[in-house]
Amino acid sequence: MYEYHAFTTFETNTLKNQMQFDPGNMGIRDVYTLMVQLITPRPIAWVSSISKDGVTNLAPYSFFNGVGANPPSVLFCPVNRRDGSQKDSLLNVLDTKEFVVNVVSAADAEIMNNSSADFASEVSEFEALGIETHASEKIAPPRVASSLAQFECKLLQHIELASGPAGANVVIGEIVMMHVADSIINDGIIDPAKLDNVGRLGGKAYTKTTDRFELDRPPAPQ
Ligand SMILES: Cc1cc2nc3c(=O)[nH]c(=O)nc-3n(C[C@H](O)[C@H](O)[C@H](O)COP(=O)(O)O)c2cc1C
Repeated sequence: MYEYHAFTTFETNTLKNQMQFDPGNMGIRDVYTLMVQLITPRPIAWVSSISKDGVTNLAPYSFFNGVGANPPSVLFCPVNRRDGSQKDSLLNVLDTKEFVVNVVSAADAEIMNNSSADFASEVSEFEALGIETHASEKIAPPRVASSLAQFECKLLQHIELASGPAGANVVIGEIVMMHVADSIINDGIIDPAKLDNVGRLGGKAYTKTTDRFELDRPPAPQ
């Protein structure tokens, strides 16, 4: 098991060999624990942003995904801290309307994790951890120089699902520029082995993308 606590609130179901969990009767921590162990593997957005005072910020978010290509869009989900305050990435994006999603390769997993520490707002994770940057093309927040692919994004929508402690937020951004390292492109196709990105499982667990398989799309039903 992960270092998370085991579930403390659950009910048995009338069906055999199954447990059933009603979030309405559970603590937020238990709900969170189940979600992060079941919604896996999650891609990781390593989000760079910049505050209205010019302090750069970097933090990983694994409640993250692409939304669609029209408009080219991504979302990530900062939950409020236990004291109810909003995380720096969210505050920065709300203030400046810009952020970068840096893709995380295995080589950067450890430093990505280090950047999740609760640094004070006035401290830049880039400076505190000595993370090299590249300037973005269209927006102010810098990119992580070692990342093999990055998306420059402008805020499209912020949806606050709840305020206060652990309140969930959805940040949707429009991709205005994509950067891809030459080293991971083979004949116009991204080589997943070279991208070597990582995903997040529950607790402290991560997964690599080295074990892949392919499936043909099914034919149209007759
Ligand atoms: C791999 C990983 C994924 C994370 N995903 C999320 C997430 O989806 N939502 C969230 O609120 N916090 C997430 N965190 C925790 C934040 O990174 C952490 O709270 C960080 O201090 C936030 O920084 P900020 O205040 O500078 O935005 C994650 C941490 C790690 C290591």
